[in-house]
Amino acid sequence: MSDSPELSSVLAGDAVPGDLAQLICCLAEACAGIANAVERGSLSGTLGALEQSNVQGETQKQLDVISNDMLIDALRSSGLARGIASEEEEHSVAIPGGAPYLVLFDPLDGSSNIDVNVTVGTIFSILPAPGDTPTDSDFLQPGDQQLAAGYVAYGPSTLLVLSTGDGVRQFTLDRAGGVFRLSHLAMEVPKQTGEFAINAARQRHWLTPIAEYVADCQAGENGPRGRDFNMRWIASMVADVHRVMTRGGVFLYPDDHAMQAEGKAGKLRLMYEANPMGFLAEQAGGAASTGRERILAIQPDGLHQRVPVVMGSAEEVAEIESRFARG
Ligand code: AHG
Ligand code: MN
Ligand code: MN
Repeated sequence: MSDSPELSSVLAGDAVPGDLAQLICCLAEACAGIANAVERGSLSGTLGALEQSNVQGETQKQLDVISNDMLIDALRSSGLARGIASEEEEHSVAIPGGAPYLVLFDPLDGSSNIDVNVTVGTIFSILPAPGDTPTDSDFLQPGDQQLAAGYVAYGPSTLLVLSTGDGVRQFTLDRAGGVFRLSHLAMEVPKQTGEFAINAARQRHWLTPIAEYVADCQAGENGPRGRDFNMRWIASMVADVHRVMTRGGVFLYPDDHAMQAEGKAGKLRLMYEANPMGFLAEQAGGAASTGRERILAIQPDGLHQRVPVVMGSAEEVAEIESRFARG
């Protein structure tokens, strides 16, 4: 596989516009740097939390901040983007004179898993830049407007899963050369599945459609679904969604009664998590929904907006949507 084509030549072969291809390569290179930082965590003393919170009120890990800085520095100096928005920053950052792209990212997803050496990731989304000096409102475009989206999973291998709107390709970091090489030409989410992923600790809060869906899966082959299901929950969206992208399944982070009582629409963020992952799921033949509507059709109303997420195998997402429609 060491002679598999590199990311840059695959993008050229896919006729991705030159500056967009360069931007994706810039992100990939920054993520190769994050892979090193994550791998060396305990050697460099960068595991563990900081005594500070991000704009979401979540405790930041040292590596959340390191990854965020690495991406921002790489993009700022590249001239390949006109604006950046990050899960870890309250407001977007304009880069006047950059190429006409906006980049949004979750620099380190699943960072609660960092200290226990479980897969974490980076998620990114690229939108067109409508003007010269973008402000927060310029980023509030529906996910359907994405020009590209991807995630990098820092696991046993460092993988880049990418779509520029014409299917989904997977690349593996070749550490010897420090480059991403093609490792899967066209990822496809199987339409049917026997696996679901949800944080069962919230079961007492679940809305009826979710509670009944999970109960029916758990009832197995003698229940209404007529087959056995398995449950998996890593608590890194990148790792859970990567499993779904690879062998099928449905990933759920729904809203629930407790969130509704607190006025929260969900846990996961539309702009940094749900939209890019939804784009990848759809591009691989899967689906992405809130349970009530297609995620990519949502008109965002805030950079850090949260949404319920149901994504993965198309038939299973449709099954859950039909339960919400019944009420
Ligand atoms: P982040 O680390 O970027 O804040 O995201 C964490 C998210 C997501 O990766 C994962 O699916 C979910 O939180 C896990 O939530 P629970 O802790 O409720 O399992
Ligand atoms: Mn995340
Ligand atoms: Mn994060």
